[in-house]
Amino acid sequence: MNICHDISLLQYNTFGIDVHANTLISYESNEELVDIVLNHLPNLPKPLLHIGGGSNLLFMNDFKGTILLSEIKIVEVVTETEDSVIIRAGSGLVLDEFISYTLSQGWYGLENLSLIPGQVGASAVQNVGAYGVEAGDRIVAVNCISLLDGSEKRFSHDECNYSYRHSIFKESHLYGKYAVVSVEYALSKTFIPQLNYGGIMHFLTSFGFTLEGVSAIQLRDIIISIRREKLPDPKVIGNAGSFFMNPIVDISLLEKIRTQYPEVPHYPTSHGKVKIPAAWLIDKCGWKGKSLGKASVHSRQPLVLINNGYATGNDIKSLSDRIQQDVFDKFSISICPEVNFIY
Ligand code: EPU
Repeated sequence: MNICHDISLLQYNTFGIDVHANTLISYESNEELVDIVLNHLPNLPKPLLHIGGGSNLLFMNDFKGTILLSEIKIVEVVTETEDSVIIRAGSGLVLDEFISYTLSQGWYGLENLSLIPGQVGASAVQNVGAYGVEAGDRIVAVNCISLLDGSEKRFSHDECNYSYRHSIFKESHLYGKYAVVSVEYALSKTFIPQLNYGGIMHFLTSFGFTLEGVSAIQLRDIIISIRREKLPDPKVIGNAGSFFMNPIVDISLLEKIRTQYPEVPHYPTSHGKVKIPAAWLIDKCGWKGKSLGKASVHSRQPLVLINNGYATGNDIKSLSDRIQQDVFDKFSISICPEVNFIY
């Protein structure tokens, strides 16, 4: 266990917002977290905030409370058959390193999530997704410790209530009450490529592969290349990946937009609604590559807001507010941030 006071959060948020936290505690095992909950937290400043890789956070001010950080990095086989395996991964593992490890073992299913920033624990809370796969699709259980009394609680896949960028851990009755300590994934020993989203098939052919000929590691490499081409590296330019979620709207609204923009991209979702890329809406409002003060809209992916250097949370929020307003005025669609604002 490691406790620090008055610590800079610069290295703990990929937006590169330069704020301080009153206290930060990291832990390396379930037992250490239970000890923290029972013997340390009662005397430490509130509120509590559990962070992962800090890739989905926007700090608006110095954080007056206590930040918790998992350093649990276990990888254990829970069960294994000829065809599949259930792996328990510590919440503090870097998701991409874990994915790389699973592929090296011949365990498939997470390759489309390659290079998503962040840690295993946060990926289960945010239900991160890319290229037609969401973390929740592969998660069989999420093991947690209560931050109220240190008790253990295992959430089954169904209890996690997964949907697009959503889980039960984001719902108000549970928000902040549990820390994820490990996540169990069901992975297959047979590689079944998921290629029907986001132009992956097109990239595959342009890289000279066929559907039958591509291996999981090659698919991972292709996805990494696509992401590197479109998305800024947070180590170089502060950003939090997609800033907004893609809105899910009624078909009637899509039809209305189509009368003016027949080319509007859209993907069907459940309940007869459609998902429209927020990147397209923002692009059509003329924001691509534009700046407002110290914050900008990325020139290759308008869904990504970037810190031009020394931006505050409020600088980023001012840009986000303007974009939301413009998208609403033009399309009558409210786009919601995927990023969590921390006040
Ligand atoms: N588009 C434009 N202009 C642009 C760029 C994109 O109009 O300059 C339109 C195009 O029609 C394009 C569409 O937006 O087809 C979708 O763009 P893209 O395929 O890049 O994906 P996305 O919907 O913008 C989502 C995830 C990403 C994930 C990609 C790939 C969300 C909020 N974002 O983005 O996740 O990597 O799909 O699957 O769902 C993240 O969450 O941080 C993230 C990067």
